[in-house]
Amino acid sequence: MNVEFLLNGKKVSIDAKPHWTLLNVLREHFDLTGTKKGCETGECGACTVLIDGKNVNSCMALIGSVDGKEVTTIEGLTKNGQLNPIQKAFIEKAAIQCGYCTPGMVMSVKALLDENPNPTKEEIKYAIAGNLCRCTGYEQIIEAIESIEWGGEDCE
Ligand code: FES
Ligand code: FES
Repeated sequence: MNVEFLLNGKKVSIDAKPHWTLLNVLREHFDLTGTKKGCETGECGACTVLIDGKNVNSCMALIGSVDGKEVTTIEGLTKNGQLNPIQKAFIEKAAIQCGYCTPGMVMSVKALLDENPNPTKEEIKYAIAGNLCRCTGYEQIIEAIESIEWGGEDCE
C-alpha cells in the first residue's frame, strides 16, 4: 500500500505493508531514531510522536492510519539548529538521566502546552502519565515543564 503524509513538515510517501507500525517506519525507513522503541505494547510512551498535533504511541499506530496526516517527531522540534524551549528546560533542570524516555516525554509536553500553555502541576502529571521514566523520579521533569514560558515562534 502507498501511504503519503507530512513528516516534520515535508511531504513523504512510502510503499508499505499494512502491518508495519509508524514506529518502525520512522526508525527503519526514515532513519528518525530519536523516536525510541521501548515496550512496543503501548505501555511506556518512549515512542510518542504527534499525529495532527495529538500525542500518540507510534508503536500502536499502523502506518496506514497516518495517510494524509501530519506526523511530528522529536527531530521536527529543532528549528535552525536551535533546541525547542521544552528541550532547553529539560537540560537546564537536569530532567534527563539515561534519556531514553526523553524524546517521548518532550512530545507529550509539546501536545500539552500547545493546548494549555499554563498547566497546573496536576495537569502536567496527567499529561505525562503515559510516559514512563525509570530514572528521574519525575520531580525534575515536572519542575522543567513548570519553568517553560510557552508561546512565540520557537515553540512551533
Ligand atoms: S514503545 Fe510504544 S508505548 Fe512503549
Ligand atoms: S531519564 Fe532514564 S528513563 Fe527517563
